[in-house]
Amino acid sequence: MARQTVRDILGKSEEYLSGKGVDSPRLSAQLLAAFALGMDRMRLFLDLDRPLGDAELDLIRPLIARRGRGEPVAMIVGEKEFFCRPFAVCSETLTPRPETELLIEIVLERVGRAAAIRFADLGAGSGVLAVTVACELAGAAGVAVDVSPGALAAARANAERHGVASRIEFVLGDFGDVLAGGGYDVILTNPPYVSEAEYAGLSREVRDFESKSALVPGASGLEAYRSIAPAAYAALSPGGFVAAEIGWTQGEAVSGIFGAAGFESIRVRKDLAGLDRVVLADKPASTA
Ligand SMILES: C[S@@+](CC[C@H](N)C(=O)[O-])C[C@H]1O[C@@H](n2cnc3c(N)ncnc32)[C@H](O)[C@@H]1O
Repeated sequence: MARQTVRDILGKSEEYLSGKGVDSPRLSAQLLAAFALGMDRMRLFLDLDRPLGDAELDLIRPLIARRGRGEPVAMIVGEKEFFCRPFAVCSETLTPRPETELLIEIVLERVGRAAAIRFADLGAGSGVLAVTVACELAGAAGVAVDVSPGALAAARANAERHGVASRIEFVLGDFGDVLAGGGYDVILTNPPYVSEAEYAGLSREVRDFESKSALVPGASGLEAYRSIAPAAYAALSPGGFVAAEIGWTQGEAVSGIFGAAGFESIRVRKDLAGLDRVVLADKPASTA
């Protein structure tokens, strides 16, 4: 019998994953086959007619089966790209989302790459925000806080991998623990913001595999912003700003929370899909 080629296994895997109802079946099949074969996706396309050996098929099939049970590709391969850098992820870190890159773009727009800022990343997860800011701004230093020991360990490992661990202090604790110190120019946060009701409607890929505490702060979804806003205001230097990721329906509510804490020039920024995604709020340069 003729051996299966890369093209054959990609076709069969896509069909299997479509039947299982997972998101992005074709891309999932390509990423997992490329990972199993130790090559990047472009190399896979150049090898479409290559026959696969039994040992290679044995590497690919279990990964496709895991994806068929809903496990995200990032967790199967153990990493996800963010702002063009690979980040290790695990069951205790939220899988970084592309829309979160908007927070980095806002920092670069606001302060420029030459800025020597002191920043805080509240709810670091895999460390994508703190590590990327430190990578993009050679003069930046800051703190990354998370309540999850597993997430904090992943964030520290990612900082070491990208050569910026010496400029980030990793704190295991609550948002408020690092804000109490004060003296920040920039505060970034992608806090848990999914309400209990929204969580019940999320796909099984999220509910079965992502940490609920990374997503849901409480019944309303606004609890983290309520605790962060007044403490962030007190912790920022005059003229500093906070940029907080939000759910697409939360722009008005979160703007109101930051306004009540004393912030000015509050605006909502949209992501590439045209959805409200970040609330940006300034602490006045003079608070007299
Ligand atoms: C939505 S995830 C964001 C992770 C990462 N910053 C990203 O953008 O991919 C929120 C993170 O906040 C952490 N977290 C939740 N409540 C917290 C609290 N009160 N203090 C510190 N971290 C908290 C969770 O453990 C989780 O890692």
